[in-house]
Amino acid sequence: MKITEMESILCPCQQAATTSLPMIKDKLSLMKQEHVLKYYDKLSLQQMEDLLSQISSINISLVNELIDMGMANREPHPRLEPPHVIPIKDERHQEAKEKGEKALRDGKVACFVVAGGQSTRLGYNLPKGTFGVGPVTNKSLFQYHAEKIAAISRKYNTQIPWYIMVSRENNKQTRDFFQEHRFFQLQASDVIFLEQGMLPAIDFNGKLIMNSPANIAMSPNGHGGSLLCLKENGALDTLKKQGIEEIFYFQVDNALVRIADPIFIGYHQLERSQMSTKVVPKIHPDERVGVLGYINDKLGVIEYTELNDEERHAVNPDGSLKFMAGNTAIHMLNVEFINQLISNGFHLPYHAARKKIPYIDENGKMVKPQEINGIKFETFIFDALKYAGHSVVMEVDRQEEFLPLKNMSGQNSPETVRHDLIRLYNSWLKAAGGFEIGDYPVEVSPLFAADKEEFVERIAGRKIRIQHEGLYIE
Ligand code: UD1
Repeated sequence: MKITEMESILCPCQQAATTSLPMIKDKLSLMKQEHVLKYYDKLSLQQMEDLLSQISSINISLVNELIDMGMANREPHPRLEPPHVIPIKDERHQEAKEKGEKALRDGKVACFVVAGGQSTRLGYNLPKGTFGVGPVTNKSLFQYHAEKIAAISRKYNTQIPWYIMVSRENNKQTRDFFQEHRFFQLQASDVIFLEQGMLPAIDFNGKLIMNSPANIAMSPNGHGGSLLCLKENGALDTLKKQGIEEIFYFQVDNALVRIADPIFIGYHQLERSQMSTKVVPKIHPDERVGVLGYINDKLGVIEYTELNDEERHAVNPDGSLKFMAGNTAIHMLNVEFINQLISNGFHLPYHAARKKIPYIDENGKMVKPQEINGIKFETFIFDALKYAGHSVVMEVDRQEEFLPLKNMSGQNSPETVRHDLIRLYNSWLKAAGGFEIGDYPVEVSPLFAADKEEFVERIAGRKIRIQHEGLYIE
């Protein structure tokens, strides 16, 4: 079938959605991307429709911007300086806590988790949030997060909407998981799923990559997509209508994130910060975390790949690392700040990542390349830091608040996460005047206690019984 014949076969509604084929062809010619329709004649009707719709949704100026950016030479190495960090023991902690508790009680805070990642390093086919990490119960990361939100809502007698950013690939699986588990103690209406946008991949000649005759290779637009996602889904307007002023932002992979921590909320508000960040000291110079710092005088995150050897090993007079403020990716974001930032078509800068991207050869057969063959694009939430009028960078205890699940084995793997959770709960038992039970599985439900202080307070006088599978305190 010829392309022109196909046009008349499409029903009017399809034509409206996909725009007409000649228009699509004009668009592709303008973009110098005509190869995208190379196999069009051989596609099924459904595939034709899908491909036309995919092309019509692509923004020409954005693709041109990505191509220019992806093909450009790297910018010169920036000037880097460490940030000012609020220490763990700061005299204003109590004041901050009270301020944060008031914001929670007054219903001014929402939570936002980014969960659209592909779990490639973990080698897990389902959304990472569904991965079981509880040492005794094997409860999932999502359940941990949900129980923390339920506990804090109960404690402050408040309602906390929880936004979950998913990608096109894991949207359904994530929603199904929550349905299956009846939203873990939360009201279904308080859990809102937002699907992030996608960006096309290009090859080294600036051509869009096709990964099947009917599909342009696209990938999620990075966690920076959260800002657009809030706007495009109307969530920002809803938040404003609900009187919510601050968003507690975190990553799905952190088993120990202290969700809606009043101290963090309080500092953020006391300092009239527009975007704040929790940091942990880097364990060693080569730890693969980003660090907070000034990049050409603007606050931001310097990724581990961007620090040169000298900077990675630079030390202060007392011997501590100069660039030590490891990014936990836990932020507070002011709703009005986001609103101002993303009005007028603003978007965060794109970052290019050179990757092995499956493509189709001249015979239309899919090839999985052995070598890097193309560029994917992402935006990063921390790039918003440089636009914030005020920012708080606050140090927290890694053992209590930062335990990300990233890899299949070695550091940040299921094994180390489980081990570190057991170690933490043991330290809580010890602080409560109890005993340590070593490597024997022990787990504390977030519904029982959010931190050591709360644990010690609530466990007093309680009898605990060690069961066959381990000690679970709920
Ligand atoms: C990230 C940070 C790093 C920080 C570390 C802390 C970047 C580039 N670096 O590293 O500075 O020290 O976390 O753990 O982010 N996600 C989406 N959609 C996407 C891509 C990612 O929702 O399109 C989510 C993932 O589900 C995950 C989070 O973003 O929750 C982080 O992504 P990941 O690729 O794992 O970041 P890291 O490289 O580990």
